[in-house]
Amino acid sequence: MPPSDSPSNQIQNVMREERLFPPPAELSANSAIGSMEAYQELYAKSTADPVAFWSDLAKEELHWFEPFQEGLVWEEPVAKWFVGGKTNVSYNCLDRNIEKGLGDKTAIIWEGEPGDAKTLTFKELHTEVCRFSNVLKKLGVEEGDVVSIYMPMTPELAIAMLACARVGAVHSVVFGGFSSEALAERNRDANAKVQLTADGGWRRGKVLPLKETVDEALEKSPSVEHCIVLKRCENEITMKEGRDHWWHDLLEEVDADCPATPLDSETPLFILYTSGSTGKPKGIKHTTAGYNLYAKKTFEWVFDHQQDDIYWCTADCGWITGHSYVVYGPLSAGATTLLYEGAPNHPEPDRFWDLVEKYKVTLFYTAPTAVRAFIKWGDEWVEKHDLSSLRVLGSVGEGINPEAWMWYYEKIGGGKCPIVDTWWQTETGGIMMSPLPGATPLKPGSCTKPLPGIIPAIVDETGEPVEPGFGGMLVITHPWPGMLRGLWGDMERYQETYWAKIPHNYLAGDNARQDEDGYYWIMGRIDDVINVSGHRLSTIEVESALVSHDKVAEAAAIGRPDDLTGQAISVFVTLKDAEPSEELKKALKLHVRHEIGALAVPADIHFAVALPKTRSGKIMRRLLRDIASGKEEVGDTSTLEDYTVLAKLREKDES
Ligand code: WT7
Repeated sequence: MPPSDSPSNQIQNVMREERLFPPPAELSANSAIGSMEAYQELYAKSTADPVAFWSDLAKEELHWFEPFQEGLVWEEPVAKWFVGGKTNVSYNCLDRNIEKGLGDKTAIIWEGEPGDAKTLTFKELHTEVCRFSNVLKKLGVEEGDVVSIYMPMTPELAIAMLACARVGAVHSVVFGGFSSEALAERNRDANAKVQLTADGGWRRGKVLPLKETVDEALEKSPSVEHCIVLKRCENEITMKEGRDHWWHDLLEEVDADCPATPLDSETPLFILYTSGSTGKPKGIKHTTAGYNLYAKKTFEWVFDHQQDDIYWCTADCGWITGHSYVVYGPLSAGATTLLYEGAPNHPEPDRFWDLVEKYKVTLFYTAPTAVRAFIKWGDEWVEKHDLSSLRVLGSVGEGINPEAWMWYYEKIGGGKCPIVDTWWQTETGGIMMSPLPGATPLKPGSCTKPLPGIIPAIVDETGEPVEPGFGGMLVITHPWPGMLRGLWGDMERYQETYWAKIPHNYLAGDNARQDEDGYYWIMGRIDDVINVSGHRLSTIEVESALVSHDKVAEAAAIGRPDDLTGQAISVFVTLKDAEPSEELKKALKLHVRHEIGALAVPADIHFAVALPKTRSGKIMRRLLRDIASGKEEVGDTSTLEDYTVLAKLREKDES
């Protein structure tokens, strides 16, 4: 514990986590980075001269039609990596692996929610990508044109992304759960020329009417000239003459000959919209060579990828995790990547474990929100399956509470699989901090150490490093190849959001602390800090204390105004199998007092049926803050997953 006379502008660390899990010996023995010493050596080398480190890797790991002249040109806040070189992401994912002899290896294993399935080798994927590239060209898509993708998780979604990359078009994938309004806003902002979609997609046994949503969106997306529709669910849709084309009809008119276009290293590869704290979504821009290298290397390091692995990341391609760790990272590493279309609980809550068993998945990457759902659904669904193929487990999207971590480790990993808790952001392009499975001793709840070439720091408002053990703002002090290159069409907002507050440092927007072993602990978003009587507390720590109670499934902690203490802690809790009661409230308060101490005891506890979450599964504390402080208007809800959750919480509150 830190001393009690701590500087009041630093965030207190109240979490006590002393469990330590060393890497399994057998895994270390076969791993490219098989010990902490090996990691430290690589890290020291990488940070002594990051540009030389990344440049050497870029030469080895990517195909160059023309070599680059300079590793990095840095005109803050704009980075250019591997300047003057020409490469192609689709070439690196496909042609290069075929040249290396992996042509007949399975690239994609796909399973639809109804149980239909398909596999594609690298050669087959190459053929499909070339054909679809020719479709795009035929419709007039040229280098720099934006293609908007609103599709279910099918092989064609990955094929479309790779086809855009092949011809130098910029894709903007919009998650299929977003509304027509949200899609139209993104299409307008990106000036999209072509829309890709499907008649529908399967979700919990029902057809998501994607084309219907697209029809509405295209009414308000004047730049879109063509819409290509994949036949997936055979549901009735309307096709607009002249604008809409069936995917399979267009494929019939093209051949499979389409050499990859040599593209400048800094050619935009994709835009991905992510919600800002206010209003308009931010179009995060990523480019070609730096992003490609970063996705590939971080995939290989973090998952200890071996050529016979079967890798499954459960994210949808509508998120950055789907871009970097379903498609680009694994495919450029020559990995077999599994795509699943539907819900984790369809037809039953064991669908994921069914897939792991069936395809003998070895590397598995999912989100804490899913892990907490599995815990709630009960261990019996897991116990029905043989999960012994698993070797490494991953977590991404938010902090994983230590109790959820332990469950994941024991029930899914059988106590033998390292958990890589990966910290990163849409903006960072790839994983920034994570254990390495063969090297890093694990502490539940910590993302442990930075990856090679990444130099983080934790600073206070003035940019000074905080005292060891205390929380502060997490910044990255040196450019890295996977970093965003700007916000689409708004470089001013880019500068303001990420580079203005702490000069010459990338501001991640998260709080973090480092412990005595130099391990990093993410403490939540800067805006979410709770300040009780001058003690600054992190949301994750209060939530983790609550989740460690055996009746609690999920918890969200926020600060609401309080006359006496400035802010008081208000928590929203969902329960496992228990009934809400005054008694349980008391028990939970006692539990937090015991786990953390009196200063973190919640002033009020709200039991909820569900917590409001973004479509990517993150708890929306901002909305809860509004509810707890009695505000009527709850701010921007366009990224909210289930609007009824909010209504239910308000009803509860009013009753
Ligand atoms: C924010 C980024 C990372 C790709 C998917 C989400 C939170 C992410 C962790 C982690 C604690 C985490 C942070 C970050 N976050 N991973 N392992 N531990 N927090 O990307 O939507 O851009 O969100 O997610 O707050 O800033 P994103």
